[in-house]
Amino acid sequence: MEYYAPIKHLHMLFAYLTALLFTLRLVLDAIGKPGWRQTPLRFIPHINDSLLLLFALTLWFIGPWQLMTHGWLGLKIVLLVGYIGAGMVALKPGKPKGVRIGFAVLALALLGAIFHLAKAKPLLFG
Ligand code: HEM
Repeated sequence: MEYYAPIKHLHMLFAYLTALLFTLRLVLDAIGKPGWRQTPLRFIPHINDSLLLLFALTLWFIGPWQLMTHGWLGLKIVLLVGYIGAGMVALKPGKPKGVRIGFAVLALALLGAIFHLAKAKPLLFG
């Protein structure tokens, strides 16, 4: 368990980088610079998200967390799936602008809810 705190801090670091990299790509598209798709920004977020998930799963397995008792964790995983889906539509160049803006707002709201659940760890079903 001595590794728990450093792993948690790495998970948090990659979580904040996820938010930063997603927002950065949205802003670049919004100001008419879609060329980031031809730069390392095309794949860096995927590496970051894989590491985020790797450390998340490690925390889950080595920590005291159980989906039944800690409902916030289950909800966090459900919202994560929604965030990934909404984020993909928001960054799809072929989609109409209004649709992309709507999904960008949805993705950011879901991400905000994930951060809130992680911080507050509310008792959802107890
Ligand atoms: C975009 C996705 C995610 C974000 C933004 C995120 C963010 C965070 C943050 C900021 C914390 C620290 C909360 C605190 O200050 O106490 C945290 C904790 C935690 N996360 Fe995540 N997380 C994400 C995905 C996941 C997933 C998919 C899992 C499980 C498979 C997970 C498992 C955990 C666990 C178990 C903790 C508790 C650590 C503790 O308080 O000891 N996270 N998360």
